[in-house]
Amino acid sequence: MTRVGIVGAGQLGQMIGAAGKKLGVTCVFLDPADSPPAETVGTVIRKPFDDATALQELARDCDVISYEFENVPVAALQAIADAVPVYPPLAALQQAQDRAHEKALFEELEIPLPRWQNVDSVADLQGAADHVGLPLVLKTRRFGYDGKGQVVVSSRAELPEAFAALPKRPLIAEQWIAFDREISAIGVRNRKGDLATYPLTQNEHRHGILHTSIAPVENAMLAALAEDYLSRLLLQLDYVGVLALELFVVGDTLLANEFAPRVHNSGHWTIEGATTSQFENHLRAVLDLPLGATTPTGHAGMINLIGTMPADPTALCAGGAALHDYGKVPRRGRKLGHVTVIAADGATRDHQLAMLAEKLGDTDPRPD
Ligand SMILES: Nc1ncnc2c1ncn2[C@@H]1O[C@H](COP(=O)(O)OP(=O)(O)O)[C@@H](O)[C@H]1O
Ligand SMILES: [Mg+2]
Repeated sequence: MTRVGIVGAGQLGQMIGAAGKKLGVTCVFLDPADSPPAETVGTVIRKPFDDATALQELARDCDVISYEFENVPVAALQAIADAVPVYPPLAALQQAQDRAHEKALFEELEIPLPRWQNVDSVADLQGAADHVGLPLVLKTRRFGYDGKGQVVVSSRAELPEAFAALPKRPLIAEQWIAFDREISAIGVRNRKGDLATYPLTQNEHRHGILHTSIAPVENAMLAALAEDYLSRLLLQLDYVGVLALELFVVGDTLLANEFAPRVHNSGHWTIEGATTSQFENHLRAVLDLPLGATTPTGHAGMINLIGTMPADPTALCAGGAALHDYGKVPRRGRKLGHVTVIAADGATRDHQLAMLAEKLGDTDPRPD
């Protein structure tokens, strides 16, 4: 039986593992956490992500190795890359782990992006305020997720305090974009080089955490632009697997925010809402199987369940909505599950989403 080793056993791993069952593929995970979500779909080796012996075991037992989160120690995976194929390519992972490298890649590929500058000192930050303008957002170059490691600065007087608030340096300062909306473009490329893209997804973040996604965004001009940018990235990185590109929409233009070398929260709707989910296509890509169709099956909407689960989660499933409970211990700001609705048209989808939001109440996803 085909075996795929996945570094990380969170909810993304859980959904990859579930997709594997459709392909007759067994997933084996590496994660030191107690009761990680993916233990419901496969064996979890409970060792640190950089445990050399555990990684060698994974390499020996699996046909291919992949990963489900971004902060995987690259050097540890590099050590097994001669013994077993590792996808997405580690060069792509390395590039995505550092915002400065990521932005330099966008520039190299002539993908438009907000103005930005490296910041290693308060003096750099003062200079950055001149170059990128105010307001700006100060971000840690590494290890940020769900809006963590970011401070928005709207006046010069706040600069020293903002710098002091982010001890995990180095940093970048980035132009704050008053975007019309946020979208993501999800693409997939297999080992042969076949490439497919999903319809655009529109995303709403609250406190830096993804809250709601809707798809497809029906805008041929933006779709063509996003597809072009996505293809440049996939080809340049000689990419294999699913890649998500987050973009700001400003008028008729797109500015790249960041890319994730993995399956992505904004693509969860593809489980019910596309012919082939992002999770199945990720597995198909890394196993060099033909890619499945990325065609939407309706108008999808997804809401994340953040911080607390509702007392009666099943009540969310009225009208055919699909509940995904990751089985995680609730914690403020933590993604615990999501609900997806699929409707025949956008208006019905929006109505169903509004009803769901009402049932969920005014949850405050602000992290600690
Ligand atoms: N330069 C910016 N202008 C406007 N909004 C931003 C900017 N950078 C980040 N944001 C907001 O914060 C969210 C999280 O930031 P992001 O850079 O994507 O970090 P993370 O790695 O936490 O996802 C974005 O999706 C967006 O809503
Ligand atoms: Mg992001």
